[in-house]
Amino acid sequence: MDIRLLRSSDIPHVQHANITNLPENYFMKYYLYHALSWPQLSYVAVDISRPQKSPYDYPRIVGYVLAKMDEDPPDGVQHGHITSLSVMRTHRRLGIAEKLMRQSQRAMVETFSAQYVSLHVRVSNNAALRLYRDTLGFQNESVEAKYYADGEDAYSMKLNLSEIREQTAEEDLLLEQDEGGPVGSLGSAEGVEEKEKKRKVKMGRGLGVGELVERNESQK
Ligand SMILES: CC(C)(COP(=O)(O)OP(=O)(O)OC[C@H]1O[C@@H](n2cnc3c(N)ncnc32)[C@H](O)[C@@H]1OP(=O)(O)O)[C@@H](O)C(=O)NCCC(=O)NCCS
Repeated sequence: MDIRLLRSSDIPHVQHANITNLPENYFMKYYLYHALSWPQLSYVAVDISRPQKSPYDYPRIVGYVLAKMDEDPPDGVQHGHITSLSVMRTHRRLGIAEKLMRQSQRAMVETFSAQYVSLHVRVSNNAALRLYRDTLGFQNESVEAKYYADGEDAYSMKLNLSEIREQTAEEDLLLEQDEGGPVGSLGSAEGVEEKEKKRKVKMGRGLGVGELVERNESQK
């Protein structure tokens, strides 16, 4: 199984998975809008074990997460939103949805410094509720009455992304050190002072270069 970023060429296959798994369906342009506006946030799960019979045989997409950033957040806080998530029946309970969600959540933090992620889920959707609440740690914010076209209510859920923010900050720090950033005594306050002292060294005319020019042989 390969979990990778959504490409524009995947969209018909993602749309097919969406129609197969969910009653909430979208026009092709809505998928494109996600892929082009936030290309870092949507992922697909591809079954790479299936042999490719011809170059035109497209790899089978067995799951997807379609995600975006809220463009005009009512609370003014930068946050992501899960538009749609589904996994084909043949590939459920393998941890695919969890992986897709975690990848997208991480990208929301790394790329857009998202503070939290929100979503809506049918009050009757036990599988999704278990995934969001128990596995991923989402919390119920409110119930939105008759949110869905058939009149069913939705839970509006949120997950604070502070844990991922801390994790990525730690990783950035480690990377900085690996890349030869100041470590040991050079990384300390003493090291910084030493650097500042070096910056005070005289340059150019201050080193007496002017005098040398004035004593140029042409003056003789
Ligand atoms: C909800 C859905 C995306 C879950 O996909 P999945 O890949 O099977 O989920 P995962 O394997 O990652 O499950 C992770 C955890 O979620 C919970 N979970 C998932 N499916 C569950 C189910 N049918 N019943 C109870 N808990 C379930 C479990 O805690 C599971 O961990 P476990 O398998 O170790 O017990 C999938 O069932 C689906 O596509 N449903 C139809 C579309 C849909 O409802 N999408 C969500 C719209 S908001």
